[in-house]
Amino acid sequence: MTKEALSTHSRILITGASGALGRELAFRLARPGASLSLWGRDAERLEVVAGGCRARGAHADARSLDLTDLDAALTALKQEDAAAPFDLVFLVAGQGDTLPPGAVVEDPAQVARLCQVNFVAPAAIAAAMAGRMAARGRGRIALVGTAAASHSLPIAATYAGSKAGLARYADALRLSVRGHGVSVTLVSPGFFADMQTGGARPSLPGEISAGRVAEKMIPAVLAGRAELSVPRRFLLLRWFDRLLPRPLRDRILLSLRLP
Ligand SMILES: NC(=O)c1ccc[n+]([C@@H]2O[C@H](COP(=O)([O-])OP(=O)(O)OC[C@H]3O[C@@H](n4cnc5c(N)ncnc54)[C@H](OP(=O)(O)O)[C@@H]3O)[C@@H](O)[C@H]2O)c1
Repeated sequence: MTKEALSTHSRILITGASGALGRELAFRLARPGASLSLWGRDAERLEVVAGGCRARGAHADARSLDLTDLDAALTALKQEDAAAPFDLVFLVAGQGDTLPPGAVVEDPAQVARLCQVNFVAPAAIAAAMAGRMAARGRGRIALVGTAAASHSLPIAATYAGSKAGLARYADALRLSVRGHGVSVTLVSPGFFADMQTGGARPSLPGEISAGRVAEKMIPAVLAGRAELSVPRRFLLLRWFDRLLPRPLRDRILLSLRLP
């Protein structure tokens, strides 16, 4: 990524900035001239990230907000964008799930919560932002999905389903606004770990660091790419899933367990 590429994108929103990927993005984007708005729920962790951005010469504000309160999120977005228009928006916040041992299906309340955080909120925020950016004739939006969205995972049905919805929405939104100077990038990571806290955790298949995902993601978003799959080998799994006969695919999906 060149300094020139970023200097024209100096007003930046990151949701999920208190988490691993959000923090890595924030630190890589923070530089003199940049102004970051960092959203998350945990005020203490957000302030640590904001402090790290300020130490790198950027202006940084933290906003503690729960995305299940969509009205509050949309109001905050409108206020912040009206005060100083965003050039770059990274919608990173998300939650995972796994089927509890012995359960046949997930708890319906948890299903609703995950859909709200992983699909409803980022889609609505992206729509609000894309509309405002289209009126200005410029802007870049990134939505973070997952490689898991390409697979019907019984062990993480709502995670895979909500992110699959987000992936389809991102691609349709990209087409809606591409004639208006606005790009929408879907980022589909495989497993990644927070190297600041995840040292003791066993490695998951194909796991990389959150920093590596951020490193790949920033130039892809600045270039206005439609999708980034990281690491790329997860694209092979996507094709494998599509090409397998359904009975065989079903057997494999039913046998999957998280390590
Ligand atoms: N880690 C992986 O292996 C992996 C793989 C593929 C895709 N992803 C996706 O990548 C993104 C970032 O993952 P990560 O590992 O960095 O996650 P993380 O460390 O668990 O951080 C998640 C972030 O989302 C925020 N968040 C969660 N629920 C929220 C809510 N209701 N309202 C507002 N903010 C909320 C968290 O805020 P607080 O912590 O302040 O509550 C945190 O900032 C997620 O969308 C995830 O689905 C992760």
